[in-house]
Amino acid sequence: MKLEIFDNYEGLSLRAAKEIIGVIQRKPNAVFCLATGDSPKRTYALLTNEATQSGVDFSKAHFIGLDEWVGIPPSNPGSCHYYLDTNVFRPLGISAARIHLFDALSKDLPNECHSMDETIRRLGGIDLMLAGIGMNGHVGFNEPGVSPNLYSHVIHLDEMTQNVGQKYFNGAVVLKQGITLGLKHFLETKLVLLVANGGEKAAIIKRSLEENISENLPATFIRKHSNGKVFIDSAAAFKLIKAR
Ligand code: GLP
Repeated sequence: MKLEIFDNYEGLSLRAAKEIIGVIQRKPNAVFCLATGDSPKRTYALLTNEATQSGVDFSKAHFIGLDEWVGIPPSNPGSCHYYLDTNVFRPLGISAARIHLFDALSKDLPNECHSMDETIRRLGGIDLMLAGIGMNGHVGFNEPGVSPNLYSHVIHLDEMTQNVGQKYFNGAVVLKQGITLGLKHFLETKLVLLVANGGEKAAIIKRSLEENISENLPATFIRKHSNGKVFIDSAAAFKLIKAR
């Protein structure tokens, strides 16, 4: 794992966008898995600007959804589906055939998990995953206590995740379950970027980078990844022993 600390959110976002562009330039049919949330928002804005201005071509790439709130429809602006459509797929002009997201309204969620795993296998694995980190150390919806041996699965959301998740929605919403790629996907992905910014992430960043690797803190598994990169800004880094 490599850790890079940036002066600010802009620097971090620029670096993450460059990594994504580097992958697509080396492999035009690369498979990307992009997180939603506030942390990568600026990365996606910079990425889509650069792609439009410099003609970076994503038309042969595939996109895998990292996670989704069970029971929330794609038309809801708080859904991961809506977020990715708005911030990534539409600006980059990605065709529907190349977008592979969980159907969180499905009556058969285990089958959703199974077909996502099959899709990833068929595409030859994920080349780049851009992940954020939850306030409780989750990655995707791999909540504390999750087995690192799981591929896609449905999970009961932590109380903290249920509460923090309200920030994405216009009004109060019931968030009980998530559907997510597993830590096994995370560990098998060729390149993982974990991004975090802002002082509110400083405590969980410190724990994730300094505590023992354990399923009680899923983000610690980034340190088991042979090609994992952690990009954080100085605010998120301020509690780290080495950064002081
Ligand atoms: C959310 C999502 C994650 C996201 C994380 C951090 O609940 N399930 O995929 O990366 O929590 O979100 P944010 O960047 O808004 O802090």
